[in-house]
Amino acid sequence: MNKISSICFGCEPLGGTDWGNVDIKAIEDAVNTALDLGLNFFDTAGVYGLGLSEKRLSRILGKRRHDVVIATKGGLRWDQSESKRKVILKDSSPESIRGDVESSLKRLKLDILPIFYVHWPDSNTKIEDTFFELLKLKNEGKIKSIGCSNFSAKQLDIASNVCKIEYVQLPVNILDGPPNKNISEICTNKKIKIIAYNVLLNGLLTGKFDQNSSFPKNDRRSRLSIFKGSTFLDALKKVDKLKIEAENVNNSLAHYSIDWVLKQENIISVVIGIKSTDQIIDNWSVKSNLI
Ligand SMILES: NC(=O)c1ccc[n+]([C@@H]2O[C@H](COP(=O)([O-])OP(=O)(O)OC[C@H]3O[C@@H](n4cnc5c(N)ncnc54)[C@H](OP(=O)(O)O)[C@@H]3O)[C@@H](O)[C@H]2O)c1
Repeated sequence: MNKISSICFGCEPLGGTDWGNVDIKAIEDAVNTALDLGLNFFDTAGVYGLGLSEKRLSRILGKRRHDVVIATKGGLRWDQSESKRKVILKDSSPESIRGDVESSLKRLKLDILPIFYVHWPDSNTKIEDTFFELLKLKNEGKIKSIGCSNFSAKQLDIASNVCKIEYVQLPVNILDGPPNKNISEICTNKKIKIIAYNVLLNGLLTGKFDQNSSFPKNDRRSRLSIFKGSTFLDALKKVDKLKIEAENVNNSLAHYSIDWVLKQENIISVVIGIKSTDQIIDNWSVKSNLI
């Protein structure tokens, strides 16, 4: 497998939902710029835009999709009926996981998925059953590497006793602190690499928001508690302090935050949601990425 870049292009906005009014052409331009810069790692999921993120990523990359590392995720089913907001159900049953792998292969137009994560643990399915099925899919040549996303230490331990887990994806940022110690320990012992998301805390750690910031209804930040009331005001105070820390070392808050995450044990790459060429150029120029 290619060595993956330490900045991973987060493709959830490419799905077109829950991140406000996104300009798909602007994201397409950003993908092309990212490739020119040397980025080779993309993060998507079946559920992002209910299949649209994977389809669009494949279209934009064209033949180049075979030269990069695309990580996708499954184990979430959506209610197909037309409702205002789709109902998402966790389902990592062997049949559902197999179906998800097959669907992602079709949408991405790939013969093998470089990385396939179980998106969220499903309490109705035995973890052993899910990962035994994934092992079968790997042996059939449909998946190269298996990963767990949002798993607890205990769940990760069970999964990693069934098959080799290569990657764990979980939220890590400078405000909330390093990854859970028990997860880190398992990752060190079993040589599992961590891919972090929520590194910019949905943009908060760029320092661009203030108490007057608000978000449209179709942007998840209009629902998230960190962007509401006193929690938001407290977070903004912490962000101000971090901004000063960053300035003291001649860094922007966003870069300081990304650098901090990349320095944590076992973390080899950070997934950052991208909406524009400016954002990928800015994030790519993080000091530790250019060393
Ligand atoms: N495994 C999982 O369960 C899971 C969950 C969530 C996300 N993810 C993955 O992680 C990716 C990132 O999502 P996240 O929730 O972690 O969000 P994030 O990366 O913390 O924040 C992303 C948002 O920050 C803003 N931003 C990014 N770079 C910027 C820059 N240089 N300057 C100013 N603003 C900038 C953009 O939004 P605005 O321009 O609108 O402010 C962008 O959409 C997703 O695309 C997805 O691939 C995975």
